Order: sequence, then C-alpha cells, then structure tokens
Amino acid sequence: MLNETLLKALNEQMNYEFYAAHSYMAMAAYCSHESLDGFANFFLVQAEEERFHGMKIYNFINTMGERAIITGFETPNNDFSSVLDAYEKALKQEKEVTKRFYKLSDLALDAREHATINFLKWFIEEQVEEEDLFDSIIQKLKRIDDDSNAFFMMDNEFAKRSFSPESE
Ligand code: FEO
Repeated sequence: MLNETLLKALNEQMNYEFYAAHSYMAMAAYCSHESLDGFANFFLVQAEEERFHGMKIYNFINTMGERAIITGFETPNNDFSSVLDAYEKALKQEKEVTKRFYKLSDLALDAREHATINFLKWFIEEQVEEEDLFDSIIQKLKRIDDDSNAFFMMDNEFAKRSFSPESE
C-alpha cells in the first residue's frame, strides 16, 4: 500500500519517463533528417532507456499492490537548430527529471515509506550519470566547434551505442 499522494507522484513520474522517451525520439528524428545516423542512434537508445525507467516504476507500483495509470502528455519539442541545441535541450530535460526525483524522494521520506525511498535511490544515482553524460557531450561538441572531421567521428562513435538493460 502506498499513500495517495505518493502513488499519484509515482504515476506522474512514470508517465514523465514515457514522455522523456518521446522527446528523445523527436531529437532522433531531427538527427536522422540531418543524415546524422550515429547521433540519431544515440537518441533512440536514450529513448529505450527512458522507457525502461518508466517500466521500472510501472513494475514497482504493481509490486506494491497498486495500479499504474497511463496518461497522455504534451507534444515534445521538435525544433532544433543544431545537434548541440538538441543536447542542450536534453540536458535541460534531465535536470528537470532530477528535480522531480528529488521531490518524489522528499514525499517518500515524509511518508516514511522505506521501500519507496530505497527504490528511488537507483534513479537518483542514474540521474547523476545522465547529467554527466549530456554535459560531457555538450562540452565536446563545443570544443570541436566547426571541425567537421571530429564531428563525423563522434557521429560514427555514437552509431555503436546500444541499450542493454543489464548495464542499467
Ligand atoms: Fe529517466 Fe534520463 O531520466
């Protein structure tokens, strides 16, 4: 059993993770349209990760004997001026996710809901990694600036990225 406020917040976060997946799909579509298949692959893998995060919460809600409620969400941003712009928007989104997990953890702490507190620790750690990943890519993209060789090397590198739930 979870208290109503906490259950509502967990459901909201689950749906936000699915929204984040959708938002990364929009970034992937932009990169595909620019014929940057490696960067597109990066964002498609990121979308899979977000779906995995959403399902992790879905499964937790069920395990706690509650019901996951699936909602719709707003249309994600589809306007990007460059790959760097897409990564900057991705980092902004990840920071929003972190903020939401902090709030969720505060709610769980207030309710002394120890199973949820424990469950959320994984996401807090994951957010540190996610923000670091996007921040370092942004720094690299800024450093290579208009060096097209370095940019296409990065695109090639990202073509190799794949999603593995075990590494999550
Ligand atoms: Fe599920 Fe990238 O946060």
